[in-house]
Amino acid sequence: MTLAILSALAEEQQGIFEQLEQARRVIHAGREFGLGVWHGQSVVLALSRIGKVAAATTATALIEKFGVERIVFTGVAGGVGDGVQVGDVVVARDFVQHDMDAAPLFPTFEIPLYGQSRFACDPALTAMLLEATGAGVSSASGLFSLNQRIPQVHHGLVASGDRFVSAAVEVQRLQARLRAAGHEALAVEMEGAAVAQVCHDYGIPFAAMRTISDRADDSAHVDFPEFVRTVASRYAQAILAEFMQRL
Ligand code: ADE
Repeated sequence: MTLAILSALAEEQQGIFEQLEQARRVIHAGREFGLGVWHGQSVVLALSRIGKVAAATTATALIEKFGVERIVFTGVAGGVGDGVQVGDVVVARDFVQHDMDAAPLFPTFEIPLYGQSRFACDPALTAMLLEATGAGVSSASGLFSLNQRIPQVHHGLVASGDRFVSAAVEVQRLQARLRAAGHEALAVEMEGAAVAQVCHDYGIPFAAMRTISDRADDSAHVDFPEFVRTVASRYAQAILAEFMQRL
């Protein structure tokens, strides 16, 4: 049963490709895929790139071309839920597209012709990822200290859209619109809902985790590449190593 490990950024996968047995690289759809065996499991490493369309293309290629049977996503996100702080990790329960609005033809946020706004992650794969995240965060967070605070693991709704959210007024507006429709999001990012929808279409189990790199507000001044390299990539690798033991 081949597992796809899909990451937003190359830094998160560098260490993993080096550990693959029988490793080979394949170029398809203008993307590089890394095939091999990791922790005794057949895996395909791929990058989503940025935005919903790019992520949907990568997910579709993983399923159609490489025959993956489950997908796990690692990346970073802006924390928007109460108490979701930089350095915390959010494991997605489900996804909504915060920039989908076909009103008045369909309710705001509803994906036209699907009759639903949210796409759920696979409960069994997500339970494994939650466990692995708890274990991975405690081992990785010992390596450095962030804000003098023990990182928290959150589980809930993640909102995706083709915008890097970087203003307090925008976050407030976005949260207010989502709440008015009954959606309480913990984090915002730019790919997850697209991958969740593709996985729904193909019946492929999907789970996702995001390390919080910023609060999506005006003080989202953290050095983004630096955060990914020093914090998020270590979390991703520690969590994925734990995850592989649980598969
Ligand atoms: N990924 C990480 N931070 C983000 C933000 N503030 N908005 C959208 N995607 C993000």
